[in-house]
Parts: sequence; C-alpha cells; structure tokens
Amino acid sequence: MTNSPNTIAIDGPAASGKSSIGKELANILGYLFLDTGLMYRAVTWAALHQKIQISDEKKVNEVAQQIKITIKPPSLNDDRQYDVFVDNQDITWLIRSQDVNNNVSQVSAYAGVREAMTAQQRIIGQRGNIVMVGRDIGTVVMPDADLKIYLQASVEERALRRYKEVLEHAGQETYLEILASMKRRDEIDSQRRLAPLKPAKDAIIISTDKKNKGQVIQEILRLIKT
Ligand code: CDP
Repeated sequence: MTNSPNTIAIDGPAASGKSSIGKELANILGYLFLDTGLMYRAVTWAALHQKIQISDEKKVNEVAQQIKITIKPPSLNDDRQYDVFVDNQDITWLIRSQDVNNNVSQVSAYAGVREAMTAQQRIIGQRGNIVMVGRDIGTVVMPDADLKIYLQASVEERALRRYKEVLEHAGQETYLEILASMKRRDEIDSQRRLAPLKPAKDAIIISTDKKNKGQVIQEILRLIKT
C-alpha cells in the first residue's frame, strides 16, 4: 500500500468501535496501536486502589504524574487485546470494572492528569507509523496527524455493544445501567473544559451504526488508498 498516512488519529465516544477498529487497522498496516483510554482507566484504577477520594484533584494528579503503565502483547487467551500492568499487577480486566467506568470521566477532566498522559502519548506518537485512539487525539495529542477519523454511533447501539461484551465476560451490569453510565460519561467527556470529546475540524466522520468492524475498516482503507 503506497502513500499510507504515517500517523492516524481515531476519536469517538464510548464503544463507538475505536479500539477494535484501530487495533485491526494497525495490524493491517503493520503500525503500532495505542489505546489512550486505557491510560486514563489505569490512573483511575490506581487512585481507587490507593483509596484516594476521586474528588481530591491534587492527589489524583499526583497518581497520574507517578504512575508507570506498561502495555505488552497479550499473554492470555481471554479476549484481551493487550496486557496492562501497573506496579507488576496485571490490571487488564480491572480497568474495565464498573467502578472505573463510573469514575474515569471525572479523573480525565483534571488538568494534571491530562498533562501527564498527553505528554506520554505525544512521545509515543513521535515514532510515527502509529494508530492512536481516544477522545482528543486529532484535536490535542496529534493535531498534525496525517489522517483523522471520528467514529460515531447512537448511544443505544453503543450501550448494546458494551452490554454484549459484559455478558461475554459474565459481568453483572444490566443494559439500562450501561446506557445510563455511558450517557453520563459522554456528557462529562464532551462538556469538559480541557480537550473535550469532539471531532477535529479536518476529521472524517464515519457512522458505525448497523455496520460491522470489517465494513468500517474497509471504509477507512478506501480513504487511505485514495
Ligand atoms: O472504551 P470506552 O470507549 O468505553 O472508553 P475509553 O476509550 O477506554 O476511555 C475511558 C475514558 O477515558 C473516557 O470516557 C474519557 O473520560 C477518558 N479519555 C480521555 O479523556 N481522553 C482520551 N484520549 C481517551 C480517554
């Protein structure tokens, strides 16, 4: 494939398909894949684990400044896309807990947290040949990305996708709980002052409603080839 963009930013709300589509696209192109959401989730998990009040912005910022997040290829065949470690503890599934879901948007709105995570993401992005996914990649982290995609889908469809994932992992949350928590997270993520969730001006918006992963990937590959 010629003329492939060196840096690809994919943004969008929860369960819009960013992670699975971004990962597969990176595999096809032979690029590095970085899911920035896991970094905010890891900070949230670490703060909760240390029994820090999530409303204590200063302490949560300190957690973000000190945390060492390690991402490795998957070591277990349990549906994981990668291993995530903090202090030698495998937190790959712990960062998907309801508790983390319910607190991650508050944590991600703190300036100190965003500064620490954005700095790390930019260093990784500088290597090039990368697909980076999140909420603010095209707007803040890599505003010069060669290709910017913004994935969107209705909140009902996104909640249903997440509910099916939860069922596969024997989770306890109901569809309505997931729908409510997702709406709350969308609202905080898009209303926050710093790096809110929104498409970059030059992003290509793709709706993933009623489309499977393969269809969306084909759409993106067509953009790359033209
Ligand atoms: O997988 P899902 O779409 O549910 O969420 P995620 O991508 O893992 O992100 C979890 C949370 O991290 C989001 O709701 C945002 O609050 C935050 N986040 C962010 O602020 N900026 C990013 N670049 C990525 C995630």
